[in-house]
Amino acid sequence: MQADLYQAILARRSVRRYDQNALDDDALARVRELATHVQPLEPGNRFEARLQSTAPGQDLVLDLGGYGRVVNPPHFLVPYIVGEAFPYSDLGCRVEQIAVRLAAMDLGSCFIGCVGREEGVRARFGLPPEARVVALLAFGRPSDTLGGRAVNALMRAGVRATDKLPLQRLFYVETLEQPSAPPAGLAPLLEAARQAPSAVNAQPWRFLWQDGQLHLFVKRRSIGYGTTLPMRYSLHDGGACMGNVLLAMEALGIAGHWAPYGQDGLDAPPHPEMLLPLAHLILE
Ligand SMILES: Cc1cc2nc3c(=O)[nH]c(=O)nc-3n(C[C@H](O)[C@H](O)[C@H](O)COP(=O)(O)O)c2cc1C
Repeated sequence: MQADLYQAILARRSVRRYDQNALDDDALARVRELATHVQPLEPGNRFEARLQSTAPGQDLVLDLGGYGRVVNPPHFLVPYIVGEAFPYSDLGCRVEQIAVRLAAMDLGSCFIGCVGREEGVRARFGLPPEARVVALLAFGRPSDTLGGRAVNALMRAGVRATDKLPLQRLFYVETLEQPSAPPAGLAPLLEAARQAPSAVNAQPWRFLWQDGQLHLFVKRRSIGYGTTLPMRYSLHDGGACMGNVLLAMEALGIAGHWAPYGQDGLDAPPHPEMLLPLAHLILE
């Protein structure tokens, strides 16, 4: 068991105030390296995460139209994906693995959403026209000043990130009618899943255990995402949840992978219209 990796999945939190000093070349080389070794949801998609250093005075949230404040991140990644198969979920799945591995290196990170402004982001960072982007990932050493820690705690409380939904509100057995607590055997994977980050902490994921299989759904609409945004945050954040499960399986020595619906002809279990089936987990 890789206890450190499992712990990093559970402990990773968005960091919004950073020590503004740049990381050293070794640390940046490690970040580049780990960004190229994430597990794909769909191996056919092309994934890249460009590493950038923040210019003095540059405010990524302001520039990208994200929410809140992310202060002094010395670096950020511009992750994007090219491909037609489940691109937004694949993107979330891969970038969340980077965020967790950064946490395992004692580095903080925060997604900064840019849905609705993709055109500008592509132009600004010279991405190919077919590149899909959902969020940048700011990262660096968390500020350890008293003020910095207070900002981080305040911002998390502001989006109620300290109130993550308990598993007994996210997990269903056999039908999606009434949520219930998961069996002990599934809890370590689901605990990792529910800790995933989501835009405005919407936590769109819902889990169904049916006939010995785990199915993942996301809410099609969430009050948190607003009504005008397309489904992209939901798909991306469902992917982040899958990324956490993949890492948890690696940490716990469980072999398996996610099979997105529409790939192997398997029909999703019956579900209400408000839920979108994403994938089911195949354990080997
Ligand atoms: C796609 C995406 C976009 C996000 N955009 C922002 C943002 O613009 N500003 C911000 O402060 N946090 C942003 N976040 C961070 C979420 O608010 C955070 O993940 C959520 O509140 C859960 O908290 P945690 O990451 O500390 O567990 C974003 C997260 C995701 C996954």
